Amino acid sequence: MVQLNLPKNSKVTEGRTWAYPTGARDVREYKIYRWSPDDGKNPRIDTYYVDCGDCGPMVLDALIWIKNNIDPTLTFRRSCREGVCGSCAMNIDGSNTLACTKHAGDVSSSAVKIYPLPHQPVVKDLVPDLTNFYAQYASIEPWLHTKSPTPEKEWKQSHEDRVKLDGLYECILCACCSTSCPSYWWNSERFLGPAALLQASRWIDDSRDEEKGERLDKLEDPFRLYRCHTIMNCAKACPKGLNPAKAIAGIKRKMVDRQV
Ligand code: SF4
Ligand code: SF4
Ligand code: FES
Repeated sequence: MVQLNLPKNSKVTEGRTWAYPTGARDVREYKIYRWSPDDGKNPRIDTYYVDCGDCGPMVLDALIWIKNNIDPTLTFRRSCREGVCGSCAMNIDGSNTLACTKHAGDVSSSAVKIYPLPHQPVVKDLVPDLTNFYAQYASIEPWLHTKSPTPEKEWKQSHEDRVKLDGLYECILCACCSTSCPSYWWNSERFLGPAALLQASRWIDDSRDEEKGERLDKLEDPFRLYRCHTIMNCAKACPKGLNPAKAIAGIKRKMVDRQV
């Protein structure tokens, strides 16, 4: 069930238009979703004008410029600013992506429109509440499960076994995929979603993990795994170029293989 922390019957309204930067020659318009849990007001879209001559090229640079120069109350998450931490995920120009790796010049519409990741409760402005997303990640137990004594030194894999983790280990848990998945929108309490399932696949496919059967048992459920209907939004959304739908198909195949 979709749940949003908004006032009842609220709709997004036209917000404030902030001052044009004086003396700027290259200006870009930004329309940004604003909502605070503290004032009881409806969400609104504020309009800002960014001096591109005084600001870096990425959308995150513009957000930081706005916060530093126009409106210190604008709230968003960011840390690494180079596509590694996953914290700046948001909806830009209609697609979920990372603000720090999205070049403002790649947004074709005249105004850059920015919203929080869709279908998640909002903490404030562009910050989604990812409590459920992280709990689902924890539920797949993202560490090696071993039965035999663990080696005291490095635990080696063959080159071939290591290669099996390519396309999986690179996930930065940004949630762009899960929050673009229609099945996840409607069943996010019960369907694990593409990010957690891609991570589950990363441990199932690890040659050193000794509880693959138990991991598959935990996923064998009409909702946790099988709510994926191969719509493929997840692969389109992933800013790291990963393919969660393929990883999910791999888990489903292993479910079948162990029954024959
Ligand atoms: S392929 Fe599966 S996980 Fe990916 S968007 Fe579609 S339903 Fe969601
Ligand atoms: S699979 Fe891609 S989109 Fe999904 S959480 Fe990982 S990095 Fe983000
Ligand atoms: S700030 Fe870390 S991924 Fe964008």
